[in-house]
Amino acid sequence: MAPLSGALRLLYEGKSKRIYAAGPGEALMVFKDEVTAFNGRYRDEAPGKGAYSAALTSRMFELLESYGIKTHYICYAGGNAVKIRLADVIPLEVIVRNYVYGSMKKRLPLLKEMDKLEPPVVELHYKDDRLGDPLLHPRDPVAAGILAEDELNAIEDLALRVNNALSSFWRDRGLTLVDFKIEVARDNSGFMVVDEITGDTMRLIDPEGRHYDKEVYRRTRSTELLLQSYVRLLEAAGNPSRRC
Ligand code: C5P
Repeated sequence: MAPLSGALRLLYEGKSKRIYAAGPGEALMVFKDEVTAFNGRYRDEAPGKGAYSAALTSRMFELLESYGIKTHYICYAGGNAVKIRLADVIPLEVIVRNYVYGSMKKRLPLLKEMDKLEPPVVELHYKDDRLGDPLLHPRDPVAAGILAEDELNAIEDLALRVNNALSSFWRDRGLTLVDFKIEVARDNSGFMVVDEITGDTMRLIDPEGRHYDKEVYRRTRSTELLLQSYVRLLEAAGNPSRRC
């Protein structure tokens, strides 16, 4: 895709991407060539990362759709850009954990890192950078009017279906899905998965315990090592097929 000109209207800018208006009900999600960690405390240029993220997220959404899971994905627009449907995003981060890691280990030190969680744990966090995306009590989203009573189960069910699809996809490629985060939006027929699914939002490890995700950067602060991991992830996943 040609570089984006100033003609496109910026709708939203987050830490890892910008969203531009692209016709009625549609937008371009453009990934930055940057990596950030620890809620923006670390930030580095990472040339090429945007394209790996756009291609991998497109591939992951195509996978979910092949499982009958609705997403905001329309097509991969090449380079750093993905065409999406605009949607009413719910201010929650939905995390699914198959193994103990990261913030779960921190808040429950009695657990051992990589203990298997059977069944997987689904967490809802309130999406607010200033508050550090706090973990919610399961009833909080209903109390706050973010979710209706029956939506609480529906969102957990959706998260577990996404987990099944992603876990088996990466298992077939020799990697274990430790945990991941998704975001969800509403449309008139229910929920759909939105935002991104990349090495920034999943933890994936090989049988030797090597990471192919943002943990590489969190630990080493090396963008070079991170990009090597992201190239390997995309090679393993394969390129998206729906181009535009
Ligand atoms: O840090 P924590 O252990 O809670 O992260 C769980 C999973 O959610 C990890 O895969 C991490 O990359 C992802 N995550 C995310 N965005 C956040 C917080 C966590 O993608 N704001």
